[in-house]
Amino acid sequence: MKKVKLKINEKVIEAVEGKLLLEVAKENGVRIPHLCYEPRLKPYGSCRLCLVEIKGERKLQPACATPVKNGMEVITDSITLYEIRRTIIDLLLSTHPEDCLTCEACGRCTLQDLAYEYGLRKTSYQGEKPHTPLEDHNPLIFREREKCVLCGRCVRICSEVQGVDAYTFAGRGFQTIIATAFDEPLSLKNCEFCGQCVSTCPTGALVSRLEMGKARSWESKGVMTTCPYCGCGCQIVLKVKDNQVVGVESDYETHNRGNLCAKGRFGWEFVNHPDRLKTPLIKKKGKFVKASWDEALALVAEKLKFTKEKFGSESIAFIASAKCTNEENYLLQKLARVVFGTNNIDHCARL
Ligand code: FES
Repeated sequence: MKKVKLKINEKVIEAVEGKLLLEVAKENGVRIPHLCYEPRLKPYGSCRLCLVEIKGERKLQPACATPVKNGMEVITDSITLYEIRRTIIDLLLSTHPEDCLTCEACGRCTLQDLAYEYGLRKTSYQGEKPHTPLEDHNPLIFREREKCVLCGRCVRICSEVQGVDAYTFAGRGFQTIIATAFDEPLSLKNCEFCGQCVSTCPTGALVSRLEMGKARSWESKGVMTTCPYCGCGCQIVLKVKDNQVVGVESDYETHNRGNLCAKGRFGWEFVNHPDRLKTPLIKKKGKFVKASWDEALALVAEKLKFTKEKFGSESIAFIASAKCTNEENYLLQKLARVVFGTNNIDHCARL
């Protein structure tokens, strides 16, 4: 990979040619405000918050869509840039509901952080606000479209990463909204409920309904772990409050790059569910009763032995689990083949 030298705020920096300026700046400790940029998505350049000055360029350039070149001289902070960014945030706030106190995204909302950073206690552009209906009957994704800043991240992640295209832009100008086809509820469209849109939304426009009202963002602590659902081993962060799991997210800096499926993102309520099985159960006189692992395993061994002796090895089949490790699955097939003499082995690769 060819390296280039450039200057960011007078500091000489070496970077891989063609890498996005915003990413190079971040790697070198220079923060450029942004809203529509998302590391999982292609450059888009719509919010214009990341505009920077580049020596020799007639216009300001979006750092999120500008590849670095040799000899570039970039200024990321100036009075002009500050004023432009402040005006953009002010305009975004002018159509945004002012309910930060009760908003589910409070504390993890990029717009809220930017308003704070640029000292905007309220918008200076008073006027009409768009009125877009809520989608609150969906069991997994809560859509409060009046909080949408039209960054297009949900549209793009649904298309570029998931290949589903459940969302699109509809309307023009002030009437522009993020819609589904014919603006019908997500549940009636091709949505797979992966929640990728929730994971990328920078405001409270899209939130996980399962997490609503369970914890403010600063009340839960993150516990990194591996998703238990399949063999991909996606890294997830459990949000834990008072020893209870209250949500799931995933970091960009993982092999799954923050992407999760519906099970990984929304299938966490079983962890603290009162009906969760915590011990093996054995059916006695038509009723399941709690048993120890020793009892349960002894019963399984006895039944397997009996079945093999009475009906032969071919009468037995083993099904391995995607929730197990490779080593555990290896051991199960070994048990099937060597101990019970059967090749009847399958795997629930899809859960
Ligand atoms: Fe660059 Fe939005 S982050 S234009």
